Amino acid sequence: MDYPNDTLKRPLKDLRISVIDQCNFRCPYCMPAEVFGSQYAFLKKNELLNFEEITRLVRIAADLGVHKIRLTGGEPLLRKNLDQLIKMLTDIPGIDDLALTTNGVLLPRFASALKGAGLRRLTVSMDALDNGVFQKMNGRNVDVQSVLTGIEAAAEAGLSIKVNMVVQKGVNEGEILPMVRYFRETGHTLRFIEFMDVGNHNGWSLEQVFPSLKIVELIQAEFPLEPLNPNYRGEVARRYRYKGSEVEIGIIASVTQPFCANCTRARLSADGKLYTCLFATEGWDMREILRNGENDDDIRETLREIWVNRHDRYSEMRTEILKKHLHPHKVEMSYIGG
Ligand code: GTP
Ligand code: 5AD
Ligand code: SF4
Ligand code: SF4
Repeated sequence: MDYPNDTLKRPLKDLRISVIDQCNFRCPYCMPAEVFGSQYAFLKKNELLNFEEITRLVRIAADLGVHKIRLTGGEPLLRKNLDQLIKMLTDIPGIDDLALTTNGVLLPRFASALKGAGLRRLTVSMDALDNGVFQKMNGRNVDVQSVLTGIEAAAEAGLSIKVNMVVQKGVNEGEILPMVRYFRETGHTLRFIEFMDVGNHNGWSLEQVFPSLKIVELIQAEFPLEPLNPNYRGEVARRYRYKGSEVEIGIIASVTQPFCANCTRARLSADGKLYTCLFATEGWDMREILRNGENDDDIRETLREIWVNRHDRYSEMRTEILKKHLHPHKVEMSYIGG
């Protein structure tokens, strides 16, 4: 399917940067242990973009209109001295929003340094409150308490927190209400994400998607909700508030109600490949041009060209792609981040 060029409708605003491809979890929906075991060839140190390279690229992207950065992984807190990078990024003119996605277990160690470096908010991935279900979903038998302790440490450090729960039918839909009850009390925004066919190894099928409308129905039956207006055009989560309360939830219906029409996001892998879609099959090697002496103007022009020629709409085309039994070799989420 060919789409018109709609750069004006979908300007580049958002850059999500993976700082490391490794993780201390092996969530089967993202990094199944059978594939990403001990023999898997993760990136070596000199293959990773260094902090100066990342900062330079963000400065250039900011000239093109990027104002929001999210640091991801793998697990970004496994990258050494991440607080130094945060400090460097918060100093860039035009970057008014810097966030981090983490599985939370290293927060007791790093939360106050992250806050000290200028981070204001983060998102913790957590798929269940029940320890058995949680352990099944993180693939490493990590206790749910270590994530809850991490969330508490982040809150104590003064960071604003959202919690992301991937809902997989037959695995953790029974955890929706326990999660709602828990985070309604703590006041953190809980967001439900439909299980997606990211990467090539998670065995996705439509039957495993628990539709977000059903999630809302389930919650409404116990806690009446009222819808809220989006915070900004292209916000991926649809927001609701518990009636009579300021506490919010969000629904990310990336399968049943795709939001490609408003997608303003690019992704940068830890080794400097730029992807214009979460489901892309190919990236653009920015490390090569950063390291071969091109000046900022040339790099800015390259970035602009890449974005202007972008036509990605994977989530909107998913049904058609599946019908045709096409199997594009997609980038892995653990490599470019969520
Ligand atoms: P806020 O800035 O806090 O509103 O968060 P966000 O909109 O950046 O959301 P977040 O980074 O927490 O993303 C949540 C989840 O939504 C990701 O882990 C993905 O599963 C999904 N998601 C985010 N962006 C995209 C996207 O561009 N396409 C698709 N298909 N899914 C996305
Ligand atoms: N479907 C939906 N979300 C996913 N994530 C990882 N894999 C998937 C998937 N298959 C999200 C997790 C986490 C972020 C890193 O990516 O929720 O918050
Ligand atoms: Fe690690 Fe996050 Fe992927 Fe789970 S979803 S394996 S925590 S990167
Ligand atoms: Fe953007 Fe691709 Fe996600 Fe659609 S599927 S919203 S184009 S990243």
